Amino acid sequence: MSGQENKIKEEEEEAISFQKTYEKIMRDIIPTLPKERGWMLGNHILQYKGFWLSTTSILEGVVFLQHHFKPRPTDIILATSPKTGTTWFKALIFATMKRTTFELSSHPLLTTGPHGLFPFLDTYIFQNDHYQDSISSLKSLPSPRLFSTHVPYSMLPDSATDASSGCRFVYICRNPKDIFVSMWFFANKSRTKEVSPMSLEEAFELFCRGVSPYGPYWDHVLGYWKASLESPNKILFLKYEDMKNDPVVHVRRLAEFIGKPFSAEEERNGAVEEIIRLCSFENLSNLEINKNGAERFSPEIAIDKSNFFRKGQVGDWKNYLTEEMAKRIDQISDDKLYGSGLKFGT
Ligand code: A3P
Repeated sequence: MSGQENKIKEEEEEAISFQKTYEKIMRDIIPTLPKERGWMLGNHILQYKGFWLSTTSILEGVVFLQHHFKPRPTDIILATSPKTGTTWFKALIFATMKRTTFELSSHPLLTTGPHGLFPFLDTYIFQNDHYQDSISSLKSLPSPRLFSTHVPYSMLPDSATDASSGCRFVYICRNPKDIFVSMWFFANKSRTKEVSPMSLEEAFELFCRGVSPYGPYWDHVLGYWKASLESPNKILFLKYEDMKNDPVVHVRRLAEFIGKPFSAEEERNGAVEEIIRLCSFENLSNLEINKNGAERFSPEIAIDKSNFFRKGQVGDWKNYLTEEMAKRIDQISDDKLYGSGLKFGT
């Protein structure tokens, strides 16, 4: 058999093995999963291995990722919980990584937008009509590949978390009070017709109980935090608030971590500041590409691009949460983070 035929056979076998696993999940696992009221993409949110996933298609995507994702040492994976600034960091990482490839005047961020440039692993299976084509396209992307994921650390395939795999993660953490407010607005704007609107109070109860997309939020953060302490060269743990407060320092850290440190000449020429300007909330949110149309993640998940931009501020929770609500989230954070050495940004 030729090399090409072997490759095709291998991919067919992979697709069959995935199909079998997925059918087993649909048949044996999904009906047994705990359910709660859905936030936006369906009436129900499902608890799988301790975390809440918004749809069965995301579960399908996660299983696909666990089966088929073969990391390369050059891969950079942006790992986030929803609403921690994924869109912003996609832009920052892409612009930093590709700064010598593109002129500012014809930069792909201006024409394609952050999500189109940075594949989302959780729904990668839906990039093509057939699993097999998604497997092939995953393999054929040129290095260095940039991916994003919301998958909790404990659900990642061993192939990605093993120290020997070489791929690296950038994790973004944000204050849970801002996350909650951001998610509540996002869910109400993006919800499908079947999902009834959710009051702030109802959403708050769910969030505090950990029932939110990819939640419990605190467990998501702690998984990556602990892993980053064990493997600081593999996982760069950053805070949204730190990037807001001192973007120059943190874009430099990002550049070093992804193996593209700024040279002295680039520093002198203002390359860091240029990237910060290109990726700023003001710039990105005003681009036509980010204002119109929807981002399609799967056949059932399409989200208006403009919904990814709201205020982009630190501390907006003060405009929506009562003192009692704020105290309750702070108390949960104190309890959950106790002894971890982590403090949320303010
Ligand atoms: P707010 O709702 O608080 O404004 P994600 O991309 O993970 O879905 O996160 C969305 C949050 O990041 C929203 O927060 C959004 O406004 C904010 N955001 C988007 N682009 C940003 C940017 N360039 N700079 C800072 N924040 C940004």
